[in-house]
Amino acid sequence: MKIGIIGLGTVGYGVVEILTEQKERLEKTIGEEVVIKYGCSLDDMDLPEGIIYTADYKDIINDDEVDTVVELIGGTTIAKTIILEALKRGKNVVTANKALIAHDGQEIFKVAALNNAKIYYEAAVGGGIPVVAPAKENLIANEIKKIEGILNGTTNFILTLMETDNLDFDEALTIADGLGFVEADASLDLDGIDAAHKIQILAMNAFEVFFDYKKIQATGIRKVTKLDMDYAKALGYRIKLIAQAKKLENGIGIDVSPTLIGTKDIVANVNQAYNVVEISCNYLENVIFYGKGAGRYVTASAVVSDIMKTHEQAVWSHDYNETDAIYPITFSRYYVRCDQPLDIDYDTYYSQGKDHIYITNEIEYSELEEQLKGYTTNLFKVRG
Ligand code: HSE
Repeated sequence: MKIGIIGLGTVGYGVVEILTEQKERLEKTIGEEVVIKYGCSLDDMDLPEGIIYTADYKDIINDDEVDTVVELIGGTTIAKTIILEALKRGKNVVTANKALIAHDGQEIFKVAALNNAKIYYEAAVGGGIPVVAPAKENLIANEIKKIEGILNGTTNFILTLMETDNLDFDEALTIADGLGFVEADASLDLDGIDAAHKIQILAMNAFEVFFDYKKIQATGIRKVTKLDMDYAKALGYRIKLIAQAKKLENGIGIDVSPTLIGTKDIVANVNQAYNVVEISCNYLENVIFYGKGAGRYVTASAVVSDIMKTHEQAVWSHDYNETDAIYPITFSRYYVRCDQPLDIDYDTYYSQGKDHIYITNEIEYSELEEQLKGYTTNLFKVRG
């Protein structure tokens, strides 16, 4: 196996290190030499002996000896060009590029199939936690009914900090940013877009449909206040940014939204920058994947595993039917805070100072919205 790695940033260099450190064991397992032939980056850098440095990705694409291209530059422009060119040359591709797969997966999979090449992207969701392969391969005996979880570590870190250190959203965001946790475009994390990319990828694999991730109703955490967290806590809940997807009779229910979760629920206890994915299916019932969703070696671990997978597995089909039947999941219990008493159907009521807090019974959002007309409220979904 001869590999070209394009993008030698945090994750890319981690891949170089793991492949170098684990070379002997990996080669023994797959029964073939594992050679990094090229490392490609715009910044000149020292690479371990034997790896050719290049600033031009075409050196890798044009080299017939390279059978596996690893794309780790991110973004949806040049990364797409690189991946398509590599696949058209019949090279297998491994990427961590969640935005690109969520945007252009369908086109990429078609080119891969046409050229009998493999494309793997386990690192795009949940960092090193295996979740894409379980959704597609390991649970194939089952009909997957629902996938939900915490797919964005940055927002989970911010929500955890707000709760444990009694901070406002802005204060917690400043700390997360200082630690380098927040994406260059902060909106990707804070507005639930990153989580939408990831739940799209999981839903595509679990339910065998492709859809434009922009159809996913994504709400981020900007409206979650410390006050709401305190009230949620008084009622036995925590607020987490939950991405969920489930099979409906007429399509796929899928959304990303801040959600109250009972404190005894495992998902409510996934804190800091950790991720969790819970898959519900008919035979295995519930299975939970928990771990670190970002970081150099964490993500590189999934990339290296995918590189190895290109060696031994037959090409899996990515033949997804296009669908427009994509809906937000609006039938839910809701947390409602209002500075006036409300005439709504509820399960739990609590009041403090001027605030009236309700946990409603299950209700269609449009119906609740109608009942709340004229009132100023803060409103979140409640899980379960
Ligand atoms: N910004 C992402 C997160 C990085 O916080 O989960 C890993 O995909």
